[in-house]
Amino acid sequence: MGKQGFYVSKALAVVFIVLGLGALATIIALSVPPVTSNRPVTTNPPVTSNRPVTTNPPVTSNRPVTTAAPSNEPWDQYRLPKSLEPTHYSVTLHPRLKAQEGTGLYIFTGESSVDFHCKEETDLILIHSNKLNYTSKAGGEWAELTVVSGADTAPTITESRLQTETQYLVLTLDRKLTKNAEYRLTTTFTGELADDLGGFYRSEYVENGQKKVIATTQMQPTDARKAFPCFDEPALKATFDITLIHDAGTVALSNASSPETIEGNSVMRTVFERTPKMSTYLLAFIVSEFGNITDTVDDVTIKIYARKPAIDAGQGDYALKITGPILKFFENYYNSSYPLPKSDQIALPDFNAGAMENWGLITYRETALLYDPEFSSNSNKERIATIIAHELAHMWFGNLVTLRWWNDLWLNEGFASYVEYLGADNAEPDWGLKDLIVLNDIHRVFAVDALASSHPLSSPEDAIQKPAQISELFDAISYSKGASVLRMLSDFLTEPVFLKGLQTYLQQFAFGNTVYTDLWNHLEQAVQDLEFNLPFNVTDIMNTWVLQMGFPVVTVDTTTGIVTQKHFLLNPDSEITTESPFEYKWIVPIKWQKNGAEQPMEWLREESETKPEMKLGGSDWVLLNLNMSGYYRVNYDDGNWDRLLNTLSNNHEAIPVINRAQLVDDAFNLARAKIIPTVRALSTTKYLTGEMAYMPWKSAINNLEFFFLMFDRSEVFGPMQKYLQRQVQNLFTHYNNATAGYTADAVGHQNQYTQVNAFSLACRTGLTECQNLASTLFKDWMATGVNKIRPNLRTTVYCNAIAAGGVDVWDFAWGQFQKATIATEAEKIRYALTCTKESWLLNRYLEYTLNPTLIRKQDATSTIIYIAENVVGQNLAWDFIRARWPYIFSQYGGGSFSFSNLINGVTERFSTEYELHQLEQFKADHAEVGFGSGTLALEQSIERTKGNIEWLKENKQTVLEWFQKEVSASPSS
Ligand SMILES: *[C@@H]1O[C@H](CO)[C@@H](O)[C@H](O)[C@H]1NC(C)=O
Ligand SMILES: *[C@@H]1O[C@H](CO)[C@@H](O)[C@H](O)[C@H]1NC(C)=O
Ligand SMILES: *[C@@H]1O[C@H](CO)[C@@H](O)[C@H](O)[C@H]1NC(C)=O
Repeated sequence: MGKQGFYVSKALAVVFIVLGLGALATIIALSVPPVTSNRPVTTNPPVTSNRPVTTNPPVTSNRPVTTAAPSNEPWDQYRLPKSLEPTHYSVTLHPRLKAQEGTGLYIFTGESSVDFHCKEETDLILIHSNKLNYTSKAGGEWAELTVVSGADTAPTITESRLQTETQYLVLTLDRKLTKNAEYRLTTTFTGELADDLGGFYRSEYVENGQKKVIATTQMQPTDARKAFPCFDEPALKATFDITLIHDAGTVALSNASSPETIEGNSVMRTVFERTPKMSTYLLAFIVSEFGNITDTVDDVTIKIYARKPAIDAGQGDYALKITGPILKFFENYYNSSYPLPKSDQIALPDFNAGAMENWGLITYRETALLYDPEFSSNSNKERIATIIAHELAHMWFGNLVTLRWWNDLWLNEGFASYVEYLGADNAEPDWGLKDLIVLNDIHRVFAVDALASSHPLSSPEDAIQKPAQISELFDAISYSKGASVLRMLSDFLTEPVFLKGLQTYLQQFAFGNTVYTDLWNHLEQAVQDLEFNLPFNVTDIMNTWVLQMGFPVVTVDTTTGIVTQKHFLLNPDSEITTESPFEYKWIVPIKWQKNGAEQPMEWLREESETKPEMKLGGSDWVLLNLNMSGYYRVNYDDGNWDRLLNTLSNNHEAIPVINRAQLVDDAFNLARAKIIPTVRALSTTKYLTGEMAYMPWKSAINNLEFFFLMFDRSEVFGPMQKYLQRQVQNLFTHYNNATAGYTADAVGHQNQYTQVNAFSLACRTGLTECQNLASTLFKDWMATGVNKIRPNLRTTVYCNAIAAGGVDVWDFAWGQFQKATIATEAEKIRYALTCTKESWLLNRYLEYTLNPTLIRKQDATSTIIYIAENVVGQNLAWDFIRARWPYIFSQYGGGSFSFSNLINGVTERFSTEYELHQLEQFKADHAEVGFGSGTLALEQSIERTKGNIEWLKENKQTVLEWFQKEVSASPSS
């Protein structure tokens, strides 16, 4: 699934941005309201009502439903037995886009047959099925079994029942199936087309005052079984003949193309071509009244679908423009032509993840696909480019070749999260995108992976069984750490070697399944074939990054040339309970510079090694981890730190821009971990008065977020504000002059980010000129009804104006939110509404979040988190989720990102004993209901709060004094 969850925003909004330092914080997004999150609901299905069944055709589902305690019975295992293997499905589905009279339910009906191969004799058929009601067949049972080949007659089904916990349809037979014979199992069923964002579900929107309903799907990871009975594991690939029955005037889409639509009187039947062999989680079926635009690149038909007014307004044009080039890029990168005849991409009003790589029919949140230059910021545009690249990358890596089981999810998502930068860079070569992985992924995941509660990339296959366990894998570790270590691998192997191994891997396993070591073997082969000189083999190196959690801090002592490595823990006192097969040592590739000149690469394998070339004299300095190509932090002896800081002050361009960002980030984190003093970290921000580049500024702002969170309720806040205001003054003035008082965009993608950061940090630190400008721009909109605020600046301007304004400003913005015709604009306002200082407005807004007619379900979690980011909203949001936990849990349940983000987001600022106590009480109070996919997040929050308490104890006074000293010194110092 695509970059779902929060992504780190690039444009900084003013008031309450969460910070990344230290915690899961960075996952939570910042100013540009990100994608929210969260997986389809699998484990904690919305409460199903016992409404009377009056469906058509009649359905029997009052069979005994067994929810027996787990046993050794095959139906109590979450993994399918290996006896049966599907080869082909024929599925016909008929979603009803109008609620049923009487019950008010939206439903779909379906008929499905699956051909399967019997590998081992068995008298039991287990097939995944969740929340489907079956119609009895001739013999009174829920399925019909016939022979396709290899046997004379089929056994008779003697019992049909549902095993709800493990989500099976269980069929027992009067005798065994014959080994090597093929059978066909046919069923007729009804399901609910609920608004639960999982399986076959419905999405709604209003067009010209009329409610429209879409039937759409989100199968990954385990919800295909909610649409039709299937062997729902990624390794059980089969071909699919899909048919959709739908009303005249609607369009039906699926993975394959449809040569024919048979029109009846009022319903049409769209029959799709047979799919290639593929996994169930990649299926998609959609019925809508959407419009489309189209293009053909070579033989591939590319289409973008969206609500008709969005298509008519040209909002799909940008996506269409870049899709062809990105597809061509990946064909070339993989040396393999696009595996399908068409590529459809569709923007849905209700969608839980960011996007989903269904083969040939990619689904997106509207904000992840639709672009309008009048409303969308450059950050919105970048997000569209990278997310399209991410999903298109999966068409080969993930879809053509699929990991055998979910425990290897990290390779699938990590890979796409890495190459999305390459694909998007190809489409937008002037943006410098490849560098941004350092801020967006590496820094983001460092914060999580430095906790004792982190986990290794790779999990053993048998540790991941239940849908909730699978959902929990869709986290920052899988996406961003996966991306970071693959980037490191590609870097030390060099691209030609990496590509050769990748390409032979895709060739060998096309239409099949793999485990992650298959990729290492192909890369190893490429190393040998190309006679590439590598001092360790690929498996040995990568095992140290994949099989143990965390990452090292590499310390070089330039007085001796001794280089050491140590597991980096944000809280050095935290207890590690996870054992590592490598005792927390890594094989570390070190690219480095001496006095600005690149040196031959080094490797560090032992805990401590002497590198004579790194022993320095005089004013020499070294810089390790050039361009942040390795997944680790670096520390230096005091002398080298001093020389690096001097270089930053006197001639910062001698240090590559990524490393300038890195020095800031490393220093702040080393300080958090008590390896260097906090004032050393703060002093890396002094040179910023002369810095114009985006990455170092953004890195500093991200790190200062922690200071905002820790101090915005304390006496440190005043002097800190003063200091930061002084630091940003130059930048603010520069862009004020360069962009006619912030009424134009800066030139260049990253400069546009810097322009926004300058504005937002200036306002946030209380620069009156900035705050007045924000209010003036907003009031002009209120007065004239014409919004002249540049899209890039909207989030921050709205936020500041709403923070400064009262209920009239809030209500105006709320009205604009409801009227917004493009999702990116609605998102900016939805975020900014959380910026008000009025508690009652925040409380009213919190109530809105649980009313899906006001705030879409997909947006509930992130809205609550934004409110918690507001220092005024912090306690309100915390009280709110504690009071509503059982309800939130049942209604919004199951998804990994929603709960973990919710808990992490709302508790981010926690730093007192009292708050720690509340957190522990919360854990005890709701132990019964549970925390689902937020379980780990709750532990992490407790760990983080303890760390914060201690950090404050140790640092508050020195930090206060440092800021006081800085602001009393002359401004030019
Ligand atoms: C399936 O059956 C259950 C129990 O009778 C019922 O509550 C539910 O509404 C039915 N679902 C559909 C889609 O008909
Ligand atoms: C795509 O749009 C064209 C032009 O509006 C329309 O004629 C066609 O039916 C649409 N195709 C699909 C599959 O929606
Ligand atoms: C990698 O090297 C180790 C020894 O360090 C060896 O045991 C292993 O077989 C090698 N693997 C490959 C794929 O060459």
